[in-house]
Amino acid sequence: MTRSSTQFVLAARVLHWLMALMIVSMLFIGVGMVASVSERHAWLLAIHKPLGIAILMLAIVRLTVRLRNPPPPLPTDLPAVQKLAAHASHYLLYALMLAMPLVGWAMLSAGGYPVMLSHSVRLPPIFPVNAAAFAILRHAHAWLAILLFLTFLAHLGAALYHGLIRRDGVLSSMTGIGHGTE
Ligand code: HEM
Repeated sequence: MTRSSTQFVLAARVLHWLMALMIVSMLFIGVGMVASVSERHAWLLAIHKPLGIAILMLAIVRLTVRLRNPPPPLPTDLPAVQKLAAHASHYLLYALMLAMPLVGWAMLSAGGYPVMLSHSVRLPPIFPVNAAAFAILRHAHAWLAILLFLTFLAHLGAALYHGLIRRDGVLSSMTGIGHGTE
């Protein structure tokens, strides 16, 4: 196999690690935010909204990069059930990267709250003002966050399994370190 077919392209690798950092930070900022009653709540929310919208933009860029650059194939000796789990979890992660910010934005729109990215930049509402929809979207945002966290943990576990136990080149295809022979 050539080097290029054993690794994700550079743009995919940079986006992967940058977004991993942003998304994990967002999960902790979100939980910290709802657990705060001090002025820290407003401060965390002021970080949460623009960071969430940045994740939405990067998820669209990432999806484009992914569609234009097919990923390296999984090892041929990987059991079919593990291949299925890998593909299913990757689809789920992409869906959640798009859904989480959209649900957050729609929820604030439904509640009639302005979606401010800074003191002067205000995003348009993407959902009509509706108290019942706000309640549903608020719950959906929290439950999707739990699903995202669990999927992230499964993804991390699988990455460590490939890198430390199977040593089959799957982890290095995303770190860019080594030639798929870790
Ligand atoms: C990947 C993107 C995002 C992630 C991972 C995320 C994560 C979270 C988490 C974990 C919570 C706490 C949920 C709970 O326990 O009730 C939360 C709350 C919240 N999020 Fe997000 N969020 C994202 C994007 C957004 C966006 C784009 C907006 C708005 C533009 C937003 C607005 C809010 C608001 C208003 C709350 C509730 C704050 C409160 O009740 O104090 N989120 N988010």
